[in-house]
Amino acid sequence: ARLVVLVSGGGTNLQALIDATTSADYGAEIVAVGADREGIEGLARAERAGIRTFVVRTADHPDRAAWDVALAEAVEDHQPDLVVLAGFMKLVGPAFLALFGGRTVNTHPSLLPSFPGMQAPKDALEFGVKVTGATLFVVDAGVDTGPIIAQVAVPVLDDDDVESLHERIKVSERTMLVDWIGRLVREASTGETP
Ligand code: GRF
Repeated sequence: ARLVVLVSGGGTNLQALIDATTSADYGAEIVAVGADREGIEGLARAERAGIRTFVVRTADHPDRAAWDVALAEAVEDHQPDLVVLAGFMKLVGPAFLALFGGRTVNTHPSLLPSFPGMQAPKDALEFGVKVTGATLFVVDAGVDTGPIIAQVAVPVLDDDDVESLHERIKVSERTMLVDWIGRLVREASTGETP
């Protein structure tokens, strides 16, 4: 299966997928990595792995709707079977969802529906939960609201700060992502349920 992965930052989730796709029996290849900004480690990781990259910057488009169309076209160029948002910090819009709705998944560092949005580990820490985690879900038009595919629980430790908590979440998150992308692509190719 052909994966396009979209990133906005460090790309540790992307790196886990890159590592997994090096084995042929994983059943998927990353055909391109896209970002909404230049100069991020996620793009560098793709380049080091010899994976094509593209950037669609909001600043290059008159408004968010035009950016959404440009992103959809850039992704479509690579004919993905599945699009993975892995630390992608923009909301995809109607043009993107018209093409890739139902076959775009996103990973989020909390147990949705708790703590949607851009600050999930910080919100969880400030609320005082003792268990948080990560969620893999199918992207819809909302903010972190789509149908949940998988979740993993991660403990919050007494001496955690946002950084230590998010790092612990990311360890489990990348394992969940690799595991479930593998199942989804095998399911798609064999028609079996995971
Ligand atoms: C991940 O926890 C992702 O869920 C969240 O931000 C983090 C991105 O990490 N949106 P990376 O870019 O994959 O390292």
